[in-house]
Amino acid sequence: MIEKLTDSSEISFAKSARRISFSAIQPSGAITLGNYLGAVRSWTDLQRTHSCIFAIADCHAVTVPKEPHYLRSSVRNLLATLLACGISPDESLLFLQSTVSHHTQLGWLLECNTQYGELRRMTQFKSKSQQNENFGVGLFTYPCLMAADILLYNTDDVPVGTDQTQHVEFARNVAQRFNSRFGETFKLPEPMFPKNGAKIMSLTDPSRKMSKSSDNSSSYILLCDHADLIVQKIKGAVTDSGNQIKYIEGKGGLNNLIVIYSCLSGLSFEQISFEFEGKGYGTFKSRLAEIIVSEFEPIQREYSRLIECADYLETCVRRGAESARKLAQPMLERAMYAMGYWVP
Ligand code: AMP
Ligand code: TRP
Repeated sequence: MIEKLTDSSEISFAKSARRISFSAIQPSGAITLGNYLGAVRSWTDLQRTHSCIFAIADCHAVTVPKEPHYLRSSVRNLLATLLACGISPDESLLFLQSTVSHHTQLGWLLECNTQYGELRRMTQFKSKSQQNENFGVGLFTYPCLMAADILLYNTDDVPVGTDQTQHVEFARNVAQRFNSRFGETFKLPEPMFPKNGAKIMSLTDPSRKMSKSSDNSSSYILLCDHADLIVQKIKGAVTDSGNQIKYIEGKGGLNNLIVIYSCLSGLSFEQISFEFEGKGYGTFKSRLAEIIVSEFEPIQREYSRLIECADYLETCVRRGAESARKLAQPMLERAMYAMGYWVP
């Protein structure tokens, strides 16, 4: 085996004094710069301070129809991507949501404690159901499964981009309602946003979030994009007719590029203005493209190596499932018992 994997029982979340963080990402093709800055990169940092649990949300993925071969390959690619980005299966618990049936089981219990009107108000449901009026029911009950993901692990913090705020809020509400009806069972989770980069905007329409579901591939940068393509996309990014590199409220396109630069360089907005004083947008964009490329290149190399390590990926999935099941079991039983089920 090319990699060392700690025995799953050595990662002890229950005994640790650290706060527990849980997050998940859907397998839906390559990840964008938005996913990277808003989620995955902050997850790798969190490994130093939290007991981290990360899932590949492959059950959520089928709330919009997916071809089986596409689902299979995107789960595999996402696993290799997360590992290549620095999520360590020795430090964190990393698993596939579908391998731990406790999630769908608790999801059902939560659905039965949720009102129709609550789910109808979810903005993600409203926008996705408008895109296709023949949507499956899973798209509607999606927040209950997400709440189950979070609540199964005694989660303290949920690191996500701001687009997930309403779903985390829902998880808190359903937990609170369950606790007051059936007795103290779930811990109430808090959403946790990255200081910078919680919402990276489209490069072509800065009023919308960067998303790979956009029809225009120039609007997003993918983690797997080739260096030349990254340069081309940044050069074509919408700014305005000014020439000062300064974060000014209302300057959508330029502000978004400054935020990206700040996230990757660690410099504040003021330091960036100072660095580019007297230099035009062209110089700023070239430098920005360079730092994105130098952040992504080592990850791309590591990804190419890992995707060939079939046995290692298989072991990660198996070990992740075993550990997650062990952790999830007591909470599922507690919730079932509280509701009046016979728990043998
Ligand atoms: P998704 O690709 O929608 O499954 O999102 C996975 C994670 O990336 C979630 O935590 C999102 O909040 C985050 N995310 C997605 N798009 C962006 C974006 N444009 N900016 C910041 N975070 C994002
Ligand atoms: N719904 C999240 C998204 O689309 C993914 C997700 C599923 C998630 N379960 C979760 C995020 C639990 C945080 C916690 O981005």
